Formats: sequence, structure tokens, C-alpha cells
Amino acid sequence: MKLQLDVIFAVLVFTVVMTTSKRSPRRNRNQVELQDAAEDTAVEEAVGGDDVCELEVTCKGGRSLPVSLPIKAPRGPAGKPGTPGLPGKQGPPGTPVCPDRVAFFVGLSLNVGPVSDNSDLPFDKVITNVGNAFNPETGRFTAPFNGTFLFSLTIAAQGRQRVNHFVCLNKYAAVELVLNRKMIATIWAESIPYWASASNTAILNMEAGDQVWLVLLSRAPYLHGYMYTTFSGHCLYRGV
Ligand SMILES: *[C@@H]1O[C@H](CO)[C@@H](O)[C@H](O)[C@H]1NC(C)=O
Repeated sequence: MKLQLDVIFAVLVFTVVMTTSKRSPRRNRNQVELQDAAEDTAVEEAVGGDDVCELEVTCKGGRSLPVSLPIKAPRGPAGKPGTPGLPGKQGPPGTPVCPDRVAFFVGLSLNVGPVSDNSDLPFDKVITNVGNAFNPETGRFTAPFNGTFLFSLTIAAQGRQRVNHFVCLNKYAAVELVLNRKMIATIWAESIPYWASASNTAILNMEAGDQVWLVLLSRAPYLHGYMYTTFSGHCLYRGV
């Protein structure tokens, strides 16, 4: 037994010397061995809890070098999978596509025209004007911010006019949809056979302050009222 321990001691000293020289020549051997033992214990605690046996060997001679030999138990079975984590927190509320409420719907309650010159078309009947971006007196919609806006318009021509027993005059109505005075679309209605209406839809990118309105054309100036002629618009998207 003593011989065996002497052999183990010799091997240990050799191992310690080699380990120490590999790691850091300035570190004390005792420190190295103690730290290694602590690391081994920590590993065993993480893996198998208390299932660690240690054989401690005390060295004789001038230097006292306690050496511990960790003896590991066999690895235990794998643990059960953990339970799933908790659901994440609810995210912040989303941004509406067009957060600002802008929508109007107006019409003519009375006939308009004829006119001798192309004329901006005011609207006397306001059904909806959310956000007040539409001015019925000027007939102009002013974009309150950069965005994409949709406009719909429907016009009707006044009824066909009987001049005498033989002659009837068709009535024409035409408007231009303009963006800052630039023509975007023209719609035309002619009272054939007696009534007629026409409509169009425009989707426009506008910068804040841009204006959209309708111009009644003098060459087709007979607009029918009674809400047969209407104009509407609303914001689709904010930003351009
Ligand atoms: C609106 O659009 C114009 C042109 O793209 C840009 O110069 C301006 O900064 C925009 N304004 C805002 C408030 O985003």
C-alpha cells in the first residue's frame, strides 16, 4: 500500500509540474492544484450533484502539497426537457395606414351652368367633410399632409331640351379634375337619349398644400344638380 501511494505521488508530482509549466510558470503549484480541484468539483455539481468521491493524498517531505483525486461517478441519465417559456409581451399598437381622418363627400343640389369660361366648381351641398380639408366655397380639396388620396366624381348632364316639335337640343356637361391647375382627368356626359351621367376615380400622390378641384368646361357647361353630380375623396396612405 505504501509503495502504491509513493508511485501515485510520483506520478502526481510529475503531472502537477507539467500542468503548472503548461499553464503559468508564475503560479504557485498549490494554487494550480486547488483551482483544478475546485473546477472539477464545480463540473461534477453541475452534472451529477453530490455524486463525487475524492481521494486525498498528502505529500511528505519539505513541501506539503495536498492533492485531491476526483473520482467521478458514472454519468447519470439525461434530465427531462424544460418546460416552454412564457409567451412574449404584447407588441406596441400598429400605425394606421392613414392615421389622420380626412374624407369628404359633396354634391350639387341645383343645376349649374351654362358658363362662358371654364370655371372652378364650388359645391353647395356638403354631406361629409371629416377633417375639413375640402372647402365647399372654392370647391377645392387641400392636402393637409403628404399622402396618397383617392377622389371619385360623378357628373350628370342636364336633360335634353325640346326646342320645338321637330328639334331637340342635347345638353353636354364636362368637368376636368385638376391637381394644382394641371388636368388629371376629364369626364364628359351628354344627354342621350335623355339623361346621362359619367364618372371617374383618381388616386393621386399629393404633398401638403397641394389642391384638387373640378373645373366646369365652357364647351360642355350644363351640369345637372339634385345630387346627380357629386365629388368625394379621402386619404389612402399618409406619406408619399
Ligand atoms: C413632403 O414631400 C416633399 C417632397 O417629397 C418633401 O420634401 C417633404 O419633406 C415632405 N414633407 C413631410 C412632412 O414629410
